[in-house]
Amino acid sequence: MLAIISAMSEELEPILEAMDTYEAINYASNTYYKAKYKGVDLILAYSKIGKVFSTLTATTMIEKFGATKLLFSGVAGAVNSDLNIGDLIYATKLAQHDLDITIFGHPNGYVPEGSVYVDSDDKLNNVAKDVASDLGLKLKAGIIATGDQFIASSEKKDWIEKTFNADALEMEGASVGVVCTSLEVPFFILRAISDAADMDAGFNFDEFLDSSAKVSAEFILKMIEKID
Ligand code: ADE
Repeated sequence: MLAIISAMSEELEPILEAMDTYEAINYASNTYYKAKYKGVDLILAYSKIGKVFSTLTATTMIEKFGATKLLFSGVAGAVNSDLNIGDLIYATKLAQHDLDITIFGHPNGYVPEGSVYVDSDDKLNNVAKDVASDLGLKLKAGIIATGDQFIASSEKKDWIEKTFNADALEMEGASVGVVCTSLEVPFFILRAISDAADMDAGFNFDEFLDSSAKVSAEFILKMIEKID
């Protein structure tokens, strides 16, 4: 079973709308959708924003609904200046930028028995590359940093870039990645840029959330058809 997870209703809605059929199931204070799209069985949900809710939803999709592969669709703030609003990026690896026990001599993003980065699945990333080349779309591969903060400051953004070599930032990817890695479920994190995580980020996010969420959703729909 393939799972599609987003953080916000605006991110999931364009995917849900495209389904041939779906059934809503309430569980653990959230709504999960068992859906069919072009003959493929799917489980869909938006988690709500942040690492805790996305951890709960990804775990539930795997442990309760039997997800064996997971794709994330949503928006992100650009860190790399090559990325403009509406551009697509998938994560090759992800880190938690707000995980900090550096006082004990550990690097940012690291806790004992964990790792700074979690790696996404090469096979799913290759499916994305194929879809991009089939459709003639620009798709960047890069490092995504995740934290429980909406970043709207060039200084904070620069720190995240320098510390994690990040290309984009958001609030759920790394936590979903940790869940999937721990439970041995291949995962893919796709984001379309909604803002540049700078002083205009709040305004730009409000303006471009819907259009960028659609860019990501449409790409994910194409991927579903190519995943076995
Ligand atoms: N998702 C989209 N833009 C973001 C930002 N600036 N900070 C955190 N998450 C985001």
